[in-house]
Amino acid sequence: MKILVVYGSNSGSNFHAAQMVADILRGKHTVKLISAGEVGMNDVLSHRHIVMGSCSWKVEGEEGSPHEDILNIMHAMDGKKYPSKHFALFGCGDSRYTYFCGAVDHMQAFVTQIGAQEILPPLKVDGLYFDLYNATAKIEKWAYQLLGKL
Ligand SMILES: Cc1cc2nc3c(=O)[nH]c(=O)nc-3n(C[C@H](O)[C@H](O)[C@H](O)COP(=O)(O)O)c2cc1C
Repeated sequence: MKILVVYGSNSGSNFHAAQMVADILRGKHTVKLISAGEVGMNDVLSHRHIVMGSCSWKVEGEEGSPHEDILNIMHAMDGKKYPSKHFALFGCGDSRYTYFCGAVDHMQAFVTQIGAQEILPPLKVDGLYFDLYNATAKIEKWAYQLLGKL
């Protein structure tokens, strides 16, 4: 199966998580790992299975927003229905902020809005670089759960 792993990351933690997920999925699938700033809409539209991860940030004054490049993908797909698309969503955030991993909630609302499906419940990771051991274990566990559902 072809799987697109696309991430929005400012300081690297979501990139790190996306790399881990991609490496695990590569055990059984063909995986394209790419940042949301570089991905073309052709790639997004040609993959039925998309793993999408984003940092939570303050964008245009709104706390808990997805990365701007993830927002751009969401805006480009907005207004159409994609019932055959399957998403797995994750985010590395920080629970000291009011909207912990708010980006994940935004992405979930987006998936619902475009009529797509979620493959499994989303992953929210708190402070990846402050607790790398446990965070890594959590990401791995989720990635293997995802692998089992594909
Ligand atoms: C300006 C700013 C705003 C942030 N807002 C949030 C937020 O609303 N919710 C959250 O969970 N984390 C928030 N964070 C924390 C980041 O999402 C967190 O550090 C994350 O790991 C960054 O991901 P990245 O390393 O992939 O860029 C914010 C960080 C900054 C610098």
